[in-house]
Amino acid sequence: MSATPIVVLVSGTGSLLQALIDASLDPAYGVQVAAVGADRAGTLGQARAEAAGIPTFVCRVADFPSRADWDAALADTITAYRPVFVVSAGFMKLLGPATLAAHTVVNTHPALLPSFPGAHAVRDALAYGVTVTGTTCHLVDAGVDTGPIIEQHAVAIEPGDTEASLHERIKVVERSMLVDVVGRLARHRFTVTGRKVTIP
Ligand code: GRF
Repeated sequence: MSATPIVVLVSGTGSLLQALIDASLDPAYGVQVAAVGADRAGTLGQARAEAAGIPTFVCRVADFPSRADWDAALADTITAYRPVFVVSAGFMKLLGPATLAAHTVVNTHPALLPSFPGAHAVRDALAYGVTVTGTTCHLVDAGVDTGPIIEQHAVAIEPGDTEASLHERIKVVERSMLVDVVGRLARHRFTVTGRKVTIP
């Protein structure tokens, strides 16, 4: 079976993207990163893609007259790479209706949803005082981190943890979860019934 093309969206350092690129070097993994898109220029994530010879694109909200125009352009740009699904790997923009109508999007989040959705999940978990947090891989719907959950892993909070130290430990778990889930989705596809995602 040929590798399943995916598009990965990033905003920052792209360590999750790098884990996917590294995994995809093995043909048995079954994934081809067809393109990497960013919402800003000059990210380390984009540089990682270029170093791996993967096409990249930048789609900035500021370059469009409205958020709806940005959403439509992003949807079309992704479509040009014909991905079976899209991975939002640290992409810090809410995707709009055009992109979500055109593409199945998998997101990874650094908390155990539905606790601590949003852009400051690690900080919020620490501030709340939970002793266990973690990471969630889920399908993206119109809400903020509300889509059907595919997989979750717990990470214990340790005495003296800072937002940075906790986020680094979460990202170790997040990377291996994302690589595992994306590979299984690519090789086996999936069905969604209500909030239940089944990978055969
Ligand atoms: C991840 O924890 C992701 O869930 C969050 O941002 C981080 C991205 O890390 N939204 P990186 O840029 O892949 O290193």
